[in-house]
Amino acid sequence: MILPVYTYGNAILRKQASNIDADYPGLKTLINNMYQTMYNADGIGLAAPQIGLPIRLLVIDLSPFKEDNPELGEFKITMINPRIIEQSKTEIMMEEGCLSIPGVYENVMRPQKIKISYFDADFNKHTDEFSGQKARVIQHEYDHLEGNLFTDKISPLRRQLIKSKLINISRGKTTCRYKTTKAL
Ligand code: NI
Repeated sequence: MILPVYTYGNAILRKQASNIDADYPGLKTLINNMYQTMYNADGIGLAAPQIGLPIRLLVIDLSPFKEDNPELGEFKITMINPRIIEQSKTEIMMEEGCLSIPGVYENVMRPQKIKISYFDADFNKHTDEFSGQKARVIQHEYDHLEGNLFTDKISPLRRQLIKSKLINISRGKTTCRYKTTKAL
């Protein structure tokens, strides 16, 4: 089932998300619905707060990169209760967008490499290191679980330049292909 995406201005996007346990009701269906919602919107990552749930769950699928980079294109991951343990001191700049902030794309600095622990969809624990594009998308989605958005990380000048766009999104004055829930 495709769910509406909560857009900029919704209070849920600013909440600290909570851990869940293996008996969280309907978890498998929820994860499935999140992938469907993400694919329908042509996204490469989605965090549970973006569909209105303040829980530590995110999904990522980088298959749109398959043609340019087969290894990246095979990267598909579900993370439950993730915790970033280490971040590299080296930061890199990459352009980001967000299904909750349609039409806004900005360069963001983030650590190049991370070490993260998480549970997969079967509640097996993992601790892995990721770098480059993988680390980038994971950190973006992880930020959603902390109530942070990529627009918080851009320069004050850039933020000023996109201010009216953000106001329009928070007022529901945005046109996007996929179903959204505007701020109340
Ligand atoms: Ni996002």
